[in-house]
Amino acid sequence: MKFFLDTGNIEEIKRIARLGIVDGVTTNPSLIAKEGRVFKDVIDEICAIIDGPVSAEVVSLDAEGMLKEAHEIAKWAPNIVIKLPMTEEGLYACNQLSKEGIKTNVTLIFTPAQGLMAAKAGATFISPFVGRLDDIGIDGMQLIRDLRQILDTYGLESEIIAASIRNLEHVREAALAGAHISTIPGTLVPTLWKHPLTDSGIERFLKDWETVPQAKEAVK
Ligand code: E4P
Repeated sequence: MKFFLDTGNIEEIKRIARLGIVDGVTTNPSLIAKEGRVFKDVIDEICAIIDGPVSAEVVSLDAEGMLKEAHEIAKWAPNIVIKLPMTEEGLYACNQLSKEGIKTNVTLIFTPAQGLMAAKAGATFISPFVGRLDDIGIDGMQLIRDLRQILDTYGLESEIIAASIRNLEHVREAALAGAHISTIPGTLVPTLWKHPLTDSGIERFLKDWETVPQAKEAVK
C-alpha cells in the first residue's frame, strides 16, 4: 500500500518525506486554509519536494469553473492531480480531464455507487472518507472493501485512496481491505513507527550495554 500525506504543511512534509516513505500528498481547501498562505505557493513547494502525485482541489461548483481552475492548476507542476468533488458537475469535469490526460482525484465519496461512478468517469484516484462515515455510525472501512471488490470485478483502473484516516487501526484495516493508498495526516504518521515496547527495548539494551566491559572503548 502506498502512503500519501494529507496535509498542506511544508515542514511536516519535509520532515516525513526525508524518511523515504511518502508516495504522494493530498490537500483540500480546509488544509490549505490552515496554513494561511497563498494556495499556489503551497502547492508549488509541495510539488518541488514530492516526486509523486500531489492533489490540489478546485472550489468551483459548476463544471465550466472546475475545468477552468483545473487547466490553470495543472500547469503548475507535472505531478499535479486535480481534486474534484463527487457531484454531477464533478463527474463531467473528471471525464473531460481524463480524456485530456490530466490526472484526477474524485473526493468526498461515501457510497459504493459514488465510487463506481467516479471510476467509470475515468478518475485516476477515488477518495472514500472512512473517518467521516465512522463519525455518523457507519462502518467506513466496509466502503473500502466494497470499492476494492467492485473495481476488481469490473477491471476499473482507478486507485482507492483511503481518506479521512484518523488512527492506526484505520491504516491497518485499509491495508487489509485492499486500499491502494492511505492518505494520512502528518500528526498521525509517527504512530506508524512508534511502539512503547520499542522504546523500552532500546532503554534496556542501552542499560545492559553499560555493563559490557569494552562498551565505552567500542563506541568511541
Ligand atoms: C482527503 O483527501 C481529505 O483531505 C481528508 O482525508 C479529509 O479528512 P478529514 O475527514 O479528517 O477532514
